[in-house]
Formats: sequence, C-alpha cells, structure tokens
Amino acid sequence: MELIDVDKVSYAYGDGSLALKDVNMKIKSGEKVAILGPNGAGKSTLFHLFNGILKPKSGTITINGLQVCKKNLVEIRRMVGMVFQDSDDQLFNSTVRQEIAYGLLNMGMSGKELEDTIAWSLKVVGMTGYDDKSPHNLSGGQKKRIALASVLAMKPKVMVLDEPTAALDPRGVYKLIKLLDVINKKLGITLIFATHDVDTVPLLADTVYLLDKGKIVKGGTTQEVFNQKEFIRKIDLRLPRVAHLVEILDRDGAINVDTLPLTISQAKNVLESQNKN
Ligand SMILES: Nc1ncnc2c1ncn2[C@@H]1O[C@H](COP(=O)(O)OP(=O)(O)O)[C@@H](O)[C@H]1O
Ligand SMILES: [Mg+2]
Repeated sequence: MELIDVDKVSYAYGDGSLALKDVNMKIKSGEKVAILGPNGAGKSTLFHLFNGILKPKSGTITINGLQVCKKNLVEIRRMVGMVFQDSDDQLFNSTVRQEIAYGLLNMGMSGKELEDTIAWSLKVVGMTGYDDKSPHNLSGGQKKRIALASVLAMKPKVMVLDEPTAALDPRGVYKLIKLLDVINKKLGITLIFATHDVDTVPLLADTVYLLDKGKIVKGGTTQEVFNQKEFIRKIDLRLPRVAHLVEILDRDGAINVDTLPLTISQAKNVLESQNKN
C-alpha cells in the first residue's frame, strides 16, 4: 500500500480559479520526493492540503490509509510534519526548548520522556546546547534546524518541506541536504519537498513530480524527469547547471554522452569515462 495517495485533487481559492487541477500522486514509505515547479505552480497549496490546513474542492488525499479530513485531523497532523518555507512563520516561542516542547506538551508528554525527546531532536539537527536561546536571534540556517527539530520531536511518518533551501546560503544548503539524508535514511522518514531549485533536486530526491499551472505534467525518477530537457525549459525551469555544461560540451563535440549527469559526482564519472575512451 502507498503511504500517500493523492487522488484527483483540485483546489480553488476564493476567486474560483483553480490552483490545483486533478492532481494524482502515489508516494511510498521511505521515498524522497520533490515537487518541482515554477512560482505559482501550486506547490504550497498542495502542501497545505497534505495536513488539512486547506480542504480539497474535489478528490481525496489519503495518508497511511486515513483520509485527510476534519475528523482525522489530529492523527493526520501527528503523521505529517510540516516545515514552512519561512521559519519565522513556524517559530513563535521565546526559547528553543519551549519551541520543541510545545507540540510534545500538547501530546501529553512530560518528565524524562519530554527532556529526552527535546535533547534527541536537538542532537539530530546538530543544535545541542541551544535550548535557552531565542529562536528569533538565530541565523536562517539555525532557524531551519530548530523548525526541523520541533517537527522531528513529534516522530512523524512524513515530513513535508516547503522550499527548504530558499533562504539559506550555500553552506546552509549543503548542511541541510546532509541532514535531510540522515532524517530519511537513519530515521526512515518519508520526505516530500517543494522547490524550484533544480540544482538541489538531484541531491535530495529519488522521485520528481513536475507541477505547472496546478497540474502534474510529469513524474518519474529524477533522471527520467530531467531527461525531458525541452519540457523542463518550456515550463520556466532549467536543467541543473552541471547538466547544462555537459549538454554544451556534448553539442560542441568535445565529449559524447547519452545521459546528462545531474550532480557534480555524476559529471566526474562521465568525464573520467570519456578520458578512458
Ligand atoms: N491565499 C490565496 N488566495 C488566492 N490565490 C492564491 C492564494 N495563495 C495562492 N494563490 C494562487 O494559487 C496559485 C498557486 O499558488 P502557490 O500554491 O502559492 O504556488 P507555489 O507555491 O508553487 O509558488 C497561484 O496562482 C497563486 O496566485
Ligand atoms: Mg510556494
């Protein structure tokens, strides 16, 4: 059984125009999925449907066999941890400790279990010792980590991250990619993230859905989706930089490749194999 089943979901905002049109997606447990699309494609709208902040106009979303609807909302929100695009929308307590304790206290956790869970989640995100700091005085990357810790502490099955790299500097992006990989592989949490950052997608996702004007226009493995380069350009995205470079070298006859590499390490392998030939 799929962990997440999005079945013919449409959504309209107040003015009646459809922000999502007949969206279908099936996501398995343990997958790392990117929803890739230009601004206004409907990514954030889709994410707000995942944990019931918004309600579909038609169609259904099922998570672990449970439909996302009012009567299941408590359980759904326990399974689906949402990391907002802007950490300032997520962090509202005056200390890091309170921030992480908030959801746990609501769940009725207390005593040693509460302390241990706070310590554990801070350790996972590499923020041990920041308990008494104000989240508002942290850097963008640190705020993102605390937002992640507060969600992780609830031990969700799925984490939904809206544009997680948007506000980070290059080092922050690198560290976040490493951390998300640990969260997926070691903790077994399914990750779904929205982005228009084509360079990070191959580093993070196994599966990509292309969303454009509220519709899923392609889906498949990261390689399959990026192989459709004309299509990607048509919807105002581009190839990862390294793929574009290899595409130019191939066009100019400097090298000869069948499949474009998407990451620097893939490009290294391609270029080394060219030298051998
Ligand atoms: N609160 C809102 N009211 C009306 N229209 C909205 C609202 N939020 C988003 N939209 C519209 O819905 C569409 C999808 O937006 P959004 O989900 O934010 O896209 P993305 O996250 O991919 O940039 C856009 O056309 C946007 O203008
Ligand atoms: Mg958005």
